[in-house]
Amino acid sequence: MGLYRWLLIVAVMVGPLWPAPVGAQPAASTSEGAGETRIDRLLERMTLDEKIGQMTLFTSTWAQTGPTMDPAYLDHVRAGRCGAIFNAMTASYTRWLQRIAVEETRLGIPLLFGYDVIHGHRTIFPIPLAESCSWDLAAIEQSARIAAIEAAAEGIHWTFAPMVDIARDPRWGRIAEGAGEDVWLACRIAEARVRGFQGTDLRRPDTIAACAKHFAAYGAAQAGRDYHTADVSERTLEEVYLPPFEACVKAGVRTVMTAFNEIAGHPCTAHPYLLSDLLRGRWGFTGMVVSDYTAINELVPHGYAADEAEAGRRAVLAGVDMDMQGAVFLTHLRRQVERGEVPMARLDEAVRRILTLKEELGLFDDPYRYCDEAREKRVVFSARHQAAARAMARRSMVLLKNDGGVLPLRPNLRSLAVIGPLAEATVDLLGNWHAAGDGSKVVSILQAVRERVGPGCQVRFAKGCEVEGHDRSGFRAALAAARDAEAVLLVLGERENMSGEAASRVDIDLPGVQNELAEAIARLGRPTAAVLLNGRPLALTRLHAAVPAILEAWFPGSLGGRAVADVVFGDHAPSGKLTVTFPRHVGQIPIYYSMKNTGRPLVADQKYTSRYLDCPNTPLYPFGHGLTYTTFAYSDLQVEPPVVDGGKSVTVRVTVRNTGSREGEEVVQCYLRDLAASVTRPVKELRGFRRLRLAPGASATIEFTLGAGDLSFRRADGTWGWEPGEFRVMVGGSSDLTLEGSFHIRDN
Ligand code: BGC
Repeated sequence: MGLYRWLLIVAVMVGPLWPAPVGAQPAASTSEGAGETRIDRLLERMTLDEKIGQMTLFTSTWAQTGPTMDPAYLDHVRAGRCGAIFNAMTASYTRWLQRIAVEETRLGIPLLFGYDVIHGHRTIFPIPLAESCSWDLAAIEQSARIAAIEAAAEGIHWTFAPMVDIARDPRWGRIAEGAGEDVWLACRIAEARVRGFQGTDLRRPDTIAACAKHFAAYGAAQAGRDYHTADVSERTLEEVYLPPFEACVKAGVRTVMTAFNEIAGHPCTAHPYLLSDLLRGRWGFTGMVVSDYTAINELVPHGYAADEAEAGRRAVLAGVDMDMQGAVFLTHLRRQVERGEVPMARLDEAVRRILTLKEELGLFDDPYRYCDEAREKRVVFSARHQAAARAMARRSMVLLKNDGGVLPLRPNLRSLAVIGPLAEATVDLLGNWHAAGDGSKVVSILQAVRERVGPGCQVRFAKGCEVEGHDRSGFRAALAAARDAEAVLLVLGERENMSGEAASRVDIDLPGVQNELAEAIARLGRPTAAVLLNGRPLALTRLHAAVPAILEAWFPGSLGGRAVADVVFGDHAPSGKLTVTFPRHVGQIPIYYSMKNTGRPLVADQKYTSRYLDCPNTPLYPFGHGLTYTTFAYSDLQVEPPVVDGGKSVTVRVTVRNTGSREGEEVVQCYLRDLAASVTRPVKELRGFRRLRLAPGASATIEFTLGAGDLSFRRADGTWGWEPGEFRVMVGGSSDLTLEGSFHIRDN
């Protein structure tokens, strides 16, 4: 009966006007007209309530015993009043839910299943901020690809990722979810993630729709407090916060999520300029816009709507197509349409976009195509995925400091002390938003180190202290363990829930008494290296002063423990570079490399220049910084031609040599500065990078081409383009260690 009913529905919907199979449509097509006939026919048959139902997204929940569904939501699904569910997964559970939608509703429209697949699904990869530090776009794309393969095998069609909010305030916990502070790099990473999730064919059962979030300027929350107001200039919005969203749209992202915050008085969830004029009008986005979780209801406390009815009306008229969890559309839209306050055409437009997405995913052809238990068993947490997660974790780590070459540790040590509150951590290695990641499958750093050194080395462990709190009673045991050890590994940082959503901090130093512990251990004078687990840049001034070596491991994911062991024992050299500035002190925030010069740039010893009395202007670790187990020297920077007509390119060449004694990888970075323009420009902006691997003593000449697009910015008159004049080029292995050249653009 089930299959028969479904075939009947398809036959009715497809009818004789549908000669070609849906598969003949371009799957990831961004054309609103894709599959028009079928969707038109469906729209004609839908009641007002069924249309509003498609615009409604409800959550499923997880109980101890497995997934469960609120009976009220199930009733909505059965009545055709809910078109999408999130937080539902596993092939069998989604099949069960899908069967209800397909077999028990009047029109049999399949459900869309969404989930926060942020950095892996079951095989958890490093947090997105960590992945960005790999500067490896292919690896980042592959990470999203693997996440999609696993999620799709468990019935998921749609991820609420990538999060593409530029963040320059490490107090904001969600900095962990983005790609750092730089606009150009964040755009490249956003594109890679969209490609990874969606693949080239959304109809394939191992690709899922992506969602660019949170539109827009969510990362500009004042004082780094989550959900707080953003009040950025139009220029900053255009130049900093919007480009990664535009990059996603160009890469074909199929959905966009609104942000919780307001910008200068207008909440983003009811922002006609952002959601319609810009997104649809200027960028040509044809996909679907979903609100963030109850963000429509929150227009009331924002003070943008007197009640939820008004909130819903403002949101839908501004361009929100789907209401996440708030039930505002479900409760109020019917009356508003009947009264003519919301035109039916607006609903038809929203529903058409949602049905188009379902069609692009192939759900009208086979609503169960993502619910395949055999595939689920085969691909989820597979050995191949684990190997990729381990490789990505190694690549994401940043060696912040390594005085005296403390790292790598000798694998033939006879004794090693592993100290710190996170040495035994498992679930913390997964980081925030670890989706369906299973902490019980994670090997801790302590265990991975023990297994790496083998029985010949005595590993002594002492926790020393907790992550937070003031209890120093464990110091004595930690000091005893470290005193006679040949080397000490400290494992310090934040718990996984100390960054991410609703996890802002005012003090971004190491929490609790961890600095004190590190200082006490370091005073013993043993070769000591600290491994850090954290989701944001920390102000590490004290730790930096105390210990000779620091490895930033971020939250490295399911295979993080083993990846840390790989790196600290030198089986793999670290090669990550920071994509976000580490301040010396929280008071320096916002601090980022692409700042403006000011009219009074710092001059040492001159009071009336832009500076602090009690802290240098410079960060502790700049954007682009990261050491490895060898060293590189840069020479022979050439910029040709020195004078060029506007619109033509210049070529930048630099020679990089491995001056150390082991093979290593370097990320060569190219920055640009427009020295004088119709509006002031940053002191440097990243315009390109190359990853390269060199044997000891070997060198390579790297070439960058800077074209008109690289020179373009939002000019004083609001148009985008270059202006003639003098440009400085800077190339190096970090934003603060660069060779400099210049060229001149002639007016023509
Ligand atoms: C977050 C979103 C997330 C959504 C669904 C919200 O609280 O801001 O990023 O996708 O919840 O889990």
